Amino acid sequence: MTASILTQTVADGVVQITMNRPERKNALDRASYQGLIDAIAAAEADAGIRAMVLTGAGNCFTSGNDIKDFAAAVGTGPRIAMDFLTAISTATKPVVAAVEGFAVGIGTTMLLHCDLAFAGKGASFRMPFVALGLCPEGASSYLLPLIAGSKRAAELLMLAEAFGPETAAEAGIVNAVTAEGGALAMAIEKARALAALPPQSVALTKMLLKRSHAPAVAETIATEGRLFGERLLSAEAQAAFAAFLMKR
Ligand code: COA
Repeated sequence: MTASILTQTVADGVVQITMNRPERKNALDRASYQGLIDAIAAAEADAGIRAMVLTGAGNCFTSGNDIKDFAAAVGTGPRIAMDFLTAISTATKPVVAAVEGFAVGIGTTMLLHCDLAFAGKGASFRMPFVALGLCPEGASSYLLPLIAGSKRAAELLMLAEAFGPETAAEAGIVNAVTAEGGALAMAIEKARALAALPPQSVALTKMLLKRSHAPAVAETIATEGRLFGERLLSAEAQAAFAAFLMKR
């Protein structure tokens, strides 16, 4: 079986972490979350790695949590997804995201924890939580108003509509829009630049940039996670999952 998360060294000191379930638009199941957690931990532990690039296979970032797993939720809540969010939000080494195609749900909210993010012209973002009978996750209800303003955050999180890379850039979710297919090269270039800088100074700067919001981010991930876990079992959410799985 092909691993759902691939890691490879792509430049001096740069590891590329690829979400790899292209037949499911890189939907994240339990094995994928565990793979991401392990890949981040391995990069953090390896003195030779100075920056991570996060991307998806098959011209798609990720369609978010695997809806089959959502439908099968049995009251334990999205624990492993929260563990992943904790891992990415507390990583001490820089994380640079490269987005092509779809970035849905946690595919968008994980970008709020990346230090840099680039999106190809054809990228499409969506946080469909409300439309699925769920609620925001990944500290998006805290970080999005902070970076994008409250009106934009309400638009993106409450209306739950898809939006393009220009809007993502305006909202501060990505740094810049590249030519279609160009996000990965740009992300690797920036990761390579970060890897060439004094690592302790890079880590210190990252820590200082995140420090004042870290407690609120952790608290919000936990509170959203508890409410999200409750919503997974709601009739509204279960009907939305059934509709998706039946291709209404
Ligand atoms: N979970 C489980 N399976 C998923 C999935 C997900 N999040 N996203 C896509 N898939 C599956 C589809 O069911 C389909 O399976 P099939 O080939 O057996 O029919 C396959 O992946 C390809 O997806 P498809 O919907 O045909 O591709 P598309 O290009 O038309 O649309 C998306 C792509 C991402 C817009 C669409 O798949 C989608 O909306 N997915 C759900 C996203 C979502 O709501 N995620 C949860 C967020 S909280």
